[in-house]
Amino acid sequence: MFYIPTRVFTGKDALITNKDYLTRLGHKALIVTGKGSAKKNGSFNDVIGILKESKIEYSVYEGINENPTVESIMDARDYGNSEACDFVIGIGGGSALDASKAISLMMLHKDEGWEYLYDGSKTSDMLPVASIPTTCGTGSEVTGVSVLTRTELGTKKSSVHKLYPTVSFVDGKYLKTAPSSIINNTALDALAHMIEGLVHTKATEYTRMCASSGLDLWRSVKDVIAGERQATDADLQILMDASTMAGMTIAQTGTTIPHALSYPITIGLNIPHGKSVSYFQAEFLKAMDKADRDWILTKAGLKDPDELDELFKKACDPDDIPLKYREIAYEELCSNKAKLSAVPFKIDENVLKKIAGV
Ligand SMILES: [Fe+2]
Repeated sequence: MFYIPTRVFTGKDALITNKDYLTRLGHKALIVTGKGSAKKNGSFNDVIGILKESKIEYSVYEGINENPTVESIMDARDYGNSEACDFVIGIGGGSALDASKAISLMMLHKDEGWEYLYDGSKTSDMLPVASIPTTCGTGSEVTGVSVLTRTELGTKKSSVHKLYPTVSFVDGKYLKTAPSSIINNTALDALAHMIEGLVHTKATEYTRMCASSGLDLWRSVKDVIAGERQATDADLQILMDASTMAGMTIAQTGTTIPHALSYPITIGLNIPHGKSVSYFQAEFLKAMDKADRDWILTKAGLKDPDELDELFKKACDPDDIPLKYREIAYEELCSNKAKLSAVPFKIDENVLKKIAGV
């Protein structure tokens, strides 16, 4: 099966040109954003302009934090329902987009507690959602994934419901004001999605198609990520499209070991998601079958896993992760049978320890 029920518009002015697909979603929008970058990059104003012109009311839930908690989802749900909103517009990076999908689920199930997000026996019906990414890694605009922080567990867990946006608008111009650190961290997350989706028990020719094209795009902007040249407008669109294709890949397969290791690192040390994932990517590449590794590296324009690690260090300036946190991540990975069994090559304790760095 290859399933993505989201209508995707991509390219310059994708939102303005196809605004009818936004305005047809309902009568009153709940706009869900992060802490202000949506206003800076123009995406928020584009949305407001379209809604005003179409006489569609809206309320704004601003300030979704990085790694949104389930508590913040419930707070936004109550706000959206009290404002009588009947559709959701998510604008921002992975945190805002993942949150917007979970909020739309909970708005429809207005009397349920947060546990609903993790109850697979319940329906996944949700209000319509539009996604407008303003970073280039999450892929949330085309996935059913909503990863949320479980404060009581000290880690992140994806909702068990498949929460796909109704429509997404993927426009590179919204990256223009993003700091290079955010572009780089998220571009490496997109790369991680393609690597982990390619070497996955659920990989098919169709998911390989998405990852392969995404890697071709990614390779063409690798020198931008490395800081060797300035990004042009065309590069920014390429970064966005690579991320969306990477999202299409993991929408089918899911992610594996580096992502599983990253969650306690992100929550425990407040390290951005793409950066946390990338700590483990070179060793993960070394652990997989040579044929897969060589194919991926060639596609990504890299000669070996160490070159990827060098690129990561140059692009993301990572600090060392204290051993204590690598051990916590390793313990959590060992208990995550779903992620471990999704890896199609032989893994034993030594291999896992090597990848986790413990
Ligand atoms: Fe990711």
